[in-house]
Amino acid sequence: MLLITVASGFESKAKSEINKILSNPDVERLFFKGILVVKNVFDDTNALKLLKETPTKYISRIFPIQKIIKISKDVSSINDIINEVIGLNKISSSDVFRVSCVRRGMHNFSSRDIELALGKKIEETTGAIVNLKDPEKIITIQIFQNECLIGVSEKNDLITKKIIESRKYLKGERPFTRAEFKLVEAIKEFKILIEKESNALDLGAAPGGWTKTLVDYGVNVTAVDPGELHESLSNNPRVKHLKILAKNLPNNIGQFDIITNDMNLNPIESATIMNSVAKYLKKTGIAIMTIKFVSNNRKKHLNDTIEILKENYSNFKHKKLYHNKFETTLFMIKKE
Ligand SMILES: C[S@@+](CC[C@H](N)C(=O)[O-])C[C@H]1O[C@@H](n2cnc3c(N)ncnc32)[C@H](O)[C@@H]1O
Repeated sequence: MLLITVASGFESKAKSEINKILSNPDVERLFFKGILVVKNVFDDTNALKLLKETPTKYISRIFPIQKIIKISKDVSSINDIINEVIGLNKISSSDVFRVSCVRRGMHNFSSRDIELALGKKIEETTGAIVNLKDPEKIITIQIFQNECLIGVSEKNDLITKKIIESRKYLKGERPFTRAEFKLVEAIKEFKILIEKESNALDLGAAPGGWTKTLVDYGVNVTAVDPGELHESLSNNPRVKHLKILAKNLPNNIGQFDIITNDMNLNPIESATIMNSVAKYLKKTGIAIMTIKFVSNNRKKHLNDTIEILKENYSNFKHKKLYHNKFETTLFMIKKE
């Protein structure tokens, strides 16, 4: 089994590329962008060799995988992962290894937590030694919300290729985040009239795509995010950056015509924060938020979110926009 990262937006083309190189593999697209899992490969070593040697356009990295397990967002998942890795029996006392974890989704643990706990436990149980700089074996842990892919391989079996074709922008037109398209699209879709000199509160603003879009409409934006805004916004007189979490907003931040929220939080948490900031929205002020799908149960995420928001908002409209396939965008008005 192989995990292959590919150019985002080119998953189908990458899939055809893989199908041409390997005979009849079973290529699955994961819920997250740019990720393919190739199952049913007759011989992993041969498949790796073929993928490495054949020129490709869309493939980036290839990881051999031995196991896929279901995990939860709780810290207890770390132990489940440790047990699975030990159970693979692929590390011996003479090995020098490194654990490399990449985590996508929302969990109560970090990639580093996994790397440290797993490294320590393997050293204890097998006698092998961690060497971050020059390992012979790599333990790959790739987490996609509730799925954890595990691989133990020789360093040379991890392949990195150059992506030849990816989305291109004309010179000077490359946005610093594609997120800004989402707001532009939402404004059009929901036929929102954005008044010049109005005030917006932008929650989860970094790196600043939505803030920039609002500023381009002549809006004064209070951008809330512990993260940094793009340098082009740092001295913009229309932008005030509060480097804090939304739940720590001070009481005196004023009143706003628009609240936008693109925080990467689970929908329930995000909706609860929207209720707590409703007091900063002027009478009949509008709000736009993205509902991040944390599972395939999209309808439930949408319904649960609206149910919470009904306390302070009404006139809900929602649309899964072209630029945010993994979310739904919600428009609403402050309840009178
Ligand atoms: C998808 S990004 C936002 C992109 C942004 N709309 C843009 O156009 O550039 C999500 C952001 O939410 C922020 N975030 C997550 N939880 C937050 C919280 N509780 N309070 C404030 N910001 C938060 C993250 O730091 C991250 O920068």
